Amino acid sequence: MERPDEILLGDNLDLLPALEDGSFQMIYIDPPFNTGRTQTRRTLQTSPDEHGDRTGFQGRRFKTRELAASSYLDTFEDYLGFLEPRLKHARRLLNDTGTLYFHIDYREAHYCKLLLDEIFGRASFLNEIIWAYDYGARSKQRWPAKHDTVFVYVKDPEQYYFDADGVDREPYMAPGLVTAEKAARGKLPTDVWWHTIVPTNGKEKTGYATQKPEGIVRRMVQASTQPGDWCLDFFAGSGTLGAVAAALGRRYVLIDSSPDAYGVMCARLGVEADERWMSGRAVQERRGRLQAAGGPRRQLAGGPSPSQ
Ligand SMILES: C[S@@+](CC[C@H](N)C(=O)[O-])C[C@H]1O[C@@H](n2cnc3c(N)ncnc32)[C@H](O)[C@@H]1O
Repeated sequence: MERPDEILLGDNLDLLPALEDGSFQMIYIDPPFNTGRTQTRRTLQTSPDEHGDRTGFQGRRFKTRELAASSYLDTFEDYLGFLEPRLKHARRLLNDTGTLYFHIDYREAHYCKLLLDEIFGRASFLNEIIWAYDYGARSKQRWPAKHDTVFVYVKDPEQYYFDADGVDREPYMAPGLVTAEKAARGKLPTDVWWHTIVPTNGKEKTGYATQKPEGIVRRMVQASTQPGDWCLDFFAGSGTLGAVAAALGRRYVLIDSSPDAYGVMCARLGVEADERWMSGRAVQERRGRLQAAGGPRRQLAGGPSPSQ
């Protein structure tokens, strides 16, 4: 019987060892950025009220009511020490044609690049993608920081999978300078991706703090996997990778340590939340099975994870 896609709740360092060597074609991770802040997302409902706490269009007053809030602490004393064992698992879990996409921002990007070079080898470094967006306040003390970085590493530079033709193309900036045929086809994206953040009223918005837009993750999945391939995100948050993978006919395993994230992912992907994950029993069972087996799973039977 075919294995189901999975959404797992727990510390990824407890759960990754139970996944089998080489069982994923693609891994996307977007870990906490070590911003030193608590990341909180509030969902507010506004309604007209002349004594309300906010002023809106044409000076009208509104009152706001908090419907939901979710948060996680994003401060690490030893950030690279936190990442290192997890990135080693990422390399172990990729198959020989597989690719890692590592999403980070300017605060830690340069240190992470050195760590990734150490773990994957410099020859396995494929790209530095810049995701540029235009949202939020603009500092007047320095150039406003409006981009994230995605480092791309392959397991084996001699045989990695990359399908440029599988990626959605984008419009030319100056379509008048190319033939009508080329303009109609659009151009292949480069390593600089201009893309909006998750639109506030868009249907993909879940309200989860730091949710990333499906549009950028879709490019990664289209380029580095084929239908039926397994994808993994072990800092999964609202489950953006899972939503994209499901829409493109790929398989997924998603892991997050936050019960909020687990709830959001289950709702987003139409999966019933499992009490064994919510109570922590499922993590303990997997840990127990792994100890009995004596360490991380090496090429056993096919599929990305041990049976439930
Ligand atoms: C930046 S968010 C990911 C957002 C996600 N890319 C999305 O589109 O929604 C980082 C996530 O990592 C999770 N996280 C932090 N430490 C973790 C750990 N040790 N194990 C599993 N998840 C962890 C947090 O709960 C948070 O949901």
